[in-house]
Amino acid sequence: MLFLKPKRFKVVDSTQKIAKEMAAKNCPQGLIIVADRQKESYGRLGRSWSAGVGGLWFSFVLRPKISLQKILVIAPLIAIALNKAIKKSFKISSKIKWPNDILIERKKVAGILVEASSRGRKVDWLVIGIGVNVNNRLPNFLQQTAATLKQVCGKNVSKEVLLESFAREFDLCYKKFLKVGFSSFVNFYNKNLSFYNREVIVFTDDLSQAGINKGIAKTGKLVLKMPQGIKRVSAGTLRLAD
Ligand code: BTN
Repeated sequence: MLFLKPKRFKVVDSTQKIAKEMAAKNCPQGLIIVADRQKESYGRLGRSWSAGVGGLWFSFVLRPKISLQKILVIAPLIAIALNKAIKKSFKISSKIKWPNDILIERKKVAGILVEASSRGRKVDWLVIGIGVNVNNRLPNFLQQTAATLKQVCGKNVSKEVLLESFAREFDLCYKKFLKVGFSSFVNFYNKNLSFYNREVIVFTDDLSQAGINKGIAKTGKLVLKMPQGIKRVSAGTLRLAD
């Protein structure tokens, strides 16, 4: 099994910060930090992330022997495992929103953050942070765009069941990925993608690009069909066009 016994905390600033410090000090792959509550958690693009009691908040360390170029496929790989774990644990129909959110009926229930450090052109460590809204209370400003598994299921659900299920699913995905590469995951990812074949807008730093969402390619990049041709996008924030 890839994962070590989780190190559990009641309250931390950020599981991500702790895992990164440990990764930099050469901790083994599979180290996993779980917290009941985080005071300074953050998400993609440095956005702050609400992490109160009741949610599943954790970070773990990977040391894949891959080139930096291949990092783009890691978030989709994790999204596949997390989406499977949510579906199987609670028998609900969730979807992946590119690049690495999990949605239920268009509301975000989970987010994935991938941070990396390299040695030359090779990955030294990856720290993956996962936040799942399970039984936590969402602040008012998130009520329109986010949901908890408790709201979806109509009752409290077990974060431990979800964590164990994710660990099993990711263990399988990761081993397969190291053996055969990412190509064999592409179809599965795209089948579970929300807004597939829909007109979307992808926002990057100072650019917004509209096109038809054709899912990801084997490089992990999003394929956008635009009037002027096919465009492949590495990162960004995706919205459905009105
Ligand atoms: C996103 O959707 O932007 C990713 C959110 C990732 C949040 C998790 S919660 C556990 C870990 N610790 C953090 O500070 N962030 C990640």
